[in-house]
Amino acid sequence: MTSPETSPDPRLAESAFLKAARGEPVPHTPVWFMRQAGRSLPEYLEVRSGVGMLESCMDPALVIEITLQPVRRYGVDAAIFFSDIVLPLKAVGVDLDIKPGVGPVVAKPVRTLADVDAIPDLTPDQVPFITEAVEGLVAELGGTPLIGFAGAPFTVASYLVEGGPSKEHARTKAMMFGAPDVWDALMRKIAGISAAYLEVQVAAGASAVQLFDSWAGALTPRDYRDQVMPHSAAVLARAGALGVPRIHFGVGTANLLGLMGEAGADVVGVDWRTPLAEAIGKVGDRGVQGNLDPTLVFAPTDVMTARAAEVIEAGRAATGHIFNLGHGVIPTTDPDQLMRLTEFVQSYGS
Ligand code: CP3
Repeated sequence: MTSPETSPDPRLAESAFLKAARGEPVPHTPVWFMRQAGRSLPEYLEVRSGVGMLESCMDPALVIEITLQPVRRYGVDAAIFFSDIVLPLKAVGVDLDIKPGVGPVVAKPVRTLADVDAIPDLTPDQVPFITEAVEGLVAELGGTPLIGFAGAPFTVASYLVEGGPSKEHARTKAMMFGAPDVWDALMRKIAGISAAYLEVQVAAGASAVQLFDSWAGALTPRDYRDQVMPHSAAVLARAGALGVPRIHFGVGTANLLGLMGEAGADVVGVDWRTPLAEAIGKVGDRGVQGNLDPTLVFAPTDVMTARAAEVIEAGRAATGHIFNLGHGVIPTTDPDQLMRLTEFVQSYGS
């Protein structure tokens, strides 16, 4: 089955988000929020009621609706595709689930070379529902760009090796330190799957991609550089070949920001713990994304906006700045407060 050739919406050329991602001058600092679709929105809870997380990710009509919800509500400068970093693993047949309030849980954790070899590579025909959802979304979004995403090899490996969420990533790092052949095979396997997942989304019309290495902050710069970065770089290189801007994000990565940029990012995502000015100094001639503390939405509005202004001002020193929270929207966030924050960022300085 081939999809009809469609050219990108001409309004995308004016997108503040895409301009900032390419380091071009912007009409205003663009803003979107990681996890902008999700449990903080009543309309999300309504459409998700009685539908499992993975099930909803495989239903194009639901993916389109959920992705559009925060765009409609807030008028953010970009949409992020509603899916999950483990969805492509599910698509190739890994037995896993996403448990509410817990996260991804893998039935049979990966520990040996045979376990790695048993995971098939991802081919586009395994995810026709992704192509359908992205094509439908791009048509609905018009001039608002869609960000495609995938999990980076280390963060995805953590779920596969631990079997679920982990604080220390001890088994994962034990494999990295003690079984380099298994580690290398696993990282290559995931890199191939994540890159293929990004390729499917961009082929269907996504205008930018974000690689989530949420748990990379557990690594020393040395181990990141030697054992992880080459595999993330492989994913970013394949995404770069598609001509779309690449955002590379992790949590607690103050020591890794330079390397995460060098891995092949156009924009480095920064969590709230690192002052943006410091992050800009570390990433060199690349853009930055971030980095308001996600708990500031629980502060009085004037406190929140004063801190947002500081982030915007600091961002002016960067090659490009995309405003975001330093990590995902916390589920108890008041959507009205995110609305005020969006309006504040988009009208700041004008
Ligand atoms: O950002 C968005 O709005 C797009 C959708 C998105 C989801 N997961 C939907 C989701 C994105 C970009 C992700 C990425 C993701 N998934 C990451 C990297 C980003 C990050 O937060 O650091 C990670 C580590 C995962 C794994 C995962 N999936 C976790 C930790 C959880 C949360 C567990 C929980 O319930 O608190 C999930 C489930 C998940 N993924 C939800 C959503 C909206 C919640 C499921 C629900 O609503 O029932």
